[in-house]
Amino acid sequence: MRSRTGVTREAVHHPLFARFYARCGPVMDARAGFGAHRETVLAGLTGRVIEIGAGSGLNFRHYPRTVAEVVAIEPERHLRRLAVDAAQHAEVPVDVVPGVAEALPVKSEAFDAAVASLVLCSVRDQRRALAELHRVLRPGGELRLLEHCRAEGRGHAALQWVADRTLWPLLFGGCRTGRDTLAAVEAAGFDVLELRRFHVPERAKGLTLPLPSSPHILATVRRPG
Ligand SMILES: C[S@@+](CC[C@H](N)C(=O)[O-])C[C@H]1O[C@@H](n2cnc3c(N)ncnc32)[C@H](O)[C@@H]1O
Repeated sequence: MRSRTGVTREAVHHPLFARFYARCGPVMDARAGFGAHRETVLAGLTGRVIEIGAGSGLNFRHYPRTVAEVVAIEPERHLRRLAVDAAQHAEVPVDVVPGVAEALPVKSEAFDAAVASLVLCSVRDQRRALAELHRVLRPGGELRLLEHCRAEGRGHAALQWVADRTLWPLLFGGCRTGRDTLAAVEAAGFDVLELRRFHVPERAKGLTLPLPSSPHILATVRRPG
């Protein structure tokens, strides 16, 4: 993206968050169970896969060998560099490409599956990003989702409303906790095949105050054939 001065700017520029996430992401995978959720969301994928907002590439090592190729889109420079390193240790070929989810730099109907993990909360225009995912998937192709989302309970949703209008997006790279991602996915024309809701951290672990980002979904949705 070019600014008015003609200097090239990154489409997504969150240098502090990028460094925080690069350190914190692996800890969340190990301690908050995200590593296992990544394994689940990617299980059984085959063929050509596109992943949007791949970050530092934490998903890469979880792709099953049945995947022929992953095209991993990442707009943030620091995370993209880490993703390039992570791609070298993956068991399947991963091509890391700059770009944003709202304008994917790939052909229509070119992918058997798509993956969005912890990213639809942060894209600037969720509707456009989902329309792009619909465009690039072949008819019948699956979109796998691991996302935090709007709370079902009113009190928790109110907490998210406040967080989204105060510090949360500033601290966490533009993330918004109260997005109703599942409703947006359905409005974009996807059919929901599987859906699991869960909390991070789990409610049973006795945390009295939930985090705004606690409610999550793991879902498989499909572009109708
Ligand atoms: C919380 S991180 C998640 C990274 C990775 N998907 C994961 O599961 O670890 C959010 C990611 O979304 C990316 N992102 C933000 N806005 C984006 C956009 N418009 N298009 C694509 N990716 C975006 C950020 O650069 C960052 O890598």
